[in-house]
Amino acid sequence: MALLALEDLTVRFRTRGGTVHAVNGVSFDLEAGETLGLVGESGCGKTATGLAMLRLLPRPAGRVEGGRVVFAGRDLLSLSEAEMRDLRGREIAMVFQDPMTSLNPVLTIGTQLIETLVAHRQLRGAAARGRAIELLEIVGIPQAARSLRRYPHQFSGGMRQRVMIAIALALAPRLLIADEPTTALDVTIQAQVLELIEELTRESGTAVILITHDLGVVAGRTQRICVMYAGFVVETATTRQLFAAPRHPYTVGLLHSIPRPQATGIGELIPIEGAPPEQLTAPSGCPFAPRCAWRIAACWVDNPALVPLTRDGTVAGEVVNTGPQATHRLACHNPASAEEARAGRPLRPGFEAAPPPTDILAVQPAGSAA
Ligand SMILES: Nc1ncnc2c1ncn2[C@@H]1O[C@H](COP(=O)(O)OP(=O)(O)OP(=O)(O)O)[C@@H](O)[C@H]1O
Ligand code: SF4
Ligand SMILES: [Mg+2]
Repeated sequence: MALLALEDLTVRFRTRGGTVHAVNGVSFDLEAGETLGLVGESGCGKTATGLAMLRLLPRPAGRVEGGRVVFAGRDLLSLSEAEMRDLRGREIAMVFQDPMTSLNPVLTIGTQLIETLVAHRQLRGAAARGRAIELLEIVGIPQAARSLRRYPHQFSGGMRQRVMIAIALALAPRLLIADEPTTALDVTIQAQVLELIEELTRESGTAVILITHDLGVVAGRTQRICVMYAGFVVETATTRQLFAAPRHPYTVGLLHSIPRPQATGIGELIPIEGAPPEQLTAPSGCPFAPRCAWRIAACWVDNPALVPLTRDGTVAGEVVNTGPQATHRLACHNPASAEEARAGRPLRPGFEAAPPPTDILAVQPAGSAA
C-alpha cells in the first residue's frame, strides 16, 4: 500500500471576485522514501494541494470540495482536528513557501526547535538543547548556540528556510512537503538546502513532495514528477521518462524555460507565451489551449482526461504495462513527438494551431452560423 494516495482532490477558494478552481481532481500516489516533484507555473495549485493535504487551507476562503487524502491507510480529511494536530509535524511536516508564516515571530528559534524536540523526540533539558544546536549546525546556521536565542525576524529569508528544514530534520517525519524551499536562495545555498532534504530521505526514509516552478530543481532529485497546470495534473511520469520523452506541450514549454536547457539536453530557451488562466470557471476545453502551439479544434471544447500513454506514443491505443513508460500519463489531444519536444515547437509540415471557435464563427459567411 502506498504511504500516501491523493484521490481526486478538489480545492476551491471563494473570493469576492468569484470561486477560484484551484485544484481540480488531482490524484497521485507516493511510496515510503520516495521523492515526487510537483511542478508548474505560479498559481497552478501546488501550494493549495500541499495545504489541503495537511488541512491548513486559509479559512474561510479555502475549502476541500472533493476527494480523499489517504495517508498510511487513514483518510486525513475525515480525522478530528485533534488527531490532525498530532499527525502534523510528527508524521507529516511542511516547509512553507514563506517561512515567516509558520515560524512563530514572538518565540526564539531555540524555543521553537527545542519545543519540537521535546514534543516529538522525547528529549529533555540539555539533551534537547544539544540536539537543537547540532541541527542548526547541520543546516549551516553560523554560531548555532548563539542563534538559538534569536528571533525569526533576525534571520534572512534563506536562514529562515534553513531553520524550517532544521525543524523538519528534528521531526524526521514520514512525509515532508517542501514548498519552493529554495526560491529565495542563491544558487549555492539552493544546492545545499536540497542536499539537506536528500539527506533527510536517506537517513530517515522520509518521503518528500518537492514543490517548485522550476523543472531544473527536480531533475536528478526526484523519482517521479507531476506537472500541474490550472489546477490539473497534465502529465506525470518517472523523472527519467519525463526528461527523456516529455509529451505534453506544457511540459515541453517548461523544459524549454529552464535557464540552461542545453545542460538538460533539451535544446534552446523558448519562453511560454501568455499567462495561465484565472480559473474562475471550469475550463470548457484544455486550459492550456490559448497558449499551445499544438492545439487542434477539439482542444477548445474538450478538456482531455489524464490517461496512460500508449505503446505507439499516443493517448488512444495499447497501454504499455512495463518499464518506465508504464507510469507515464498524459492529458492531451495532440501530444508532442520526441523531435518536437526537442525543437520546442510542432514540426508537422503545414500544421497550424487551431484558431479559437469564435474566430471560426467570425469568418463564416453571414447566416451560416444558425
Ligand atoms: N487565500 C487565497 N484566496 C483566494 N485565492 C487563492 C488563495 N490562495 C491561492 N489562491 C488561488 O488559488 C490558485 C492556486 O494557488 P496556489 O497558491 O496553490 O498556486 P501555486 O502553484 O502554489 O503558485 P506559486 O508558484 O505562485 O506559489 C491561484 O489561482 C491562486 O490565486
Ligand atoms: S494539444 Fe490540445 S490538449 Fe494538448 S496541451 Fe495543447 S491545447 Fe491542450
Ligand atoms: Mg505556491
